[in-house]
Amino acid sequence: SHPFYLDCDTGIDDALALAYLLASPQADVRGIGAVSGNVSAAVGARNTLDLLQLAGHAHIPVAVGAHDPQAGAFRGGAPHVHGANGIGEVSLSTPAADLAPETAAEMLVRLAHEHPGTLRVLAIGPLTNIAEALLLEPELPRLVEGITIMGGAALAPGNITAVAEANIANDPEAAADVFAADWNITLVPLDATMANVLEESHRQELLAAGHPVPQALGEMLGYYFRFYEGLFGRACSAMHDPLAAALAVGGIKAAVAPMVHVAVDTTDGPGRGQTVCDLRGLYLDYPEQPGARCRVVLALDGDFAPHLVEVLLSLAEST
Ligand code: BDR
Ligand code: CA
Repeated sequence: SHPFYLDCDTGIDDALALAYLLASPQADVRGIGAVSGNVSAAVGARNTLDLLQLAGHAHIPVAVGAHDPQAGAFRGGAPHVHGANGIGEVSLSTPAADLAPETAAEMLVRLAHEHPGTLRVLAIGPLTNIAEALLLEPELPRLVEGITIMGGAALAPGNITAVAEANIANDPEAAADVFAADWNITLVPLDATMANVLEESHRQELLAAGHPVPQALGEMLGYYFRFYEGLFGRACSAMHDPLAAALAVGGIKAAVAPMVHVAVDTTDGPGRGQTVCDLRGLYLDYPEQPGARCRVVLALDGDFAPHLVEVLLSLAEST
């Protein structure tokens, strides 16, 4: 199995991604860093610890990362999407372990040195901690196997502005640094994540699992579905972060994922936070772009929701 560092802003779909990793025998989560996004880094770290405790993985270290983005200050998160506590007002009243005595960026650099060439990085929040780690250790791109990022919008509309997706929009300067670094990036943008929806029937399967983790996830999804009802017209949700987790693990494959140049707009105009993906090769099935190193997942091979539910329900079978 592959060693993983997870960077997250837990967050309902972050909780799904974490549970997916814990349930996947191919993934060995060695450390988790929290960043401000859906909630503050401190609250996200607490949610992560509580989920780990519930899942019986309290030994995995959790570090608090950056509170503020590179420019400006944390703006309070997304309580209308994820609830004031970040996890749909579900209370996980478990006594949690202590936080790690290092920052998230320090944890990532340490793990990269401990697992040279094999560490997989999965970033499902704003990229502040990852950019900080690149500053701490400029060799990071050569030390890790690669990074999978949930974020951005290639051809799809944004979800925070007309063109910007939340994880990128919350720290465009950090994202620009991460995309400029010379490493193997897989970008999982809204194009893929909005096209793969979890339905009420899937939520009911989680609630019926008879295990505290799928049960808690099902309850959180009740909150999440209410936000997405305003977008889709029915109780369901997109699956941003677990989809990125499944691609990073190899549990599901991309069908259309050209290797292209990606830049992040850091100007102050209406394009701020946009992931500018060079998809001009569309009509020729994306010929090679010299120097490009970002694989942009535009579509999946297969149906994600049943796979996600199956993997999450395996948590119930293994205990
Ligand atoms: C992304 O932003 C956060 O709200 C979600 O957790 C996900 O990582 C979707 O735009
Ligand atoms: Ca997230």
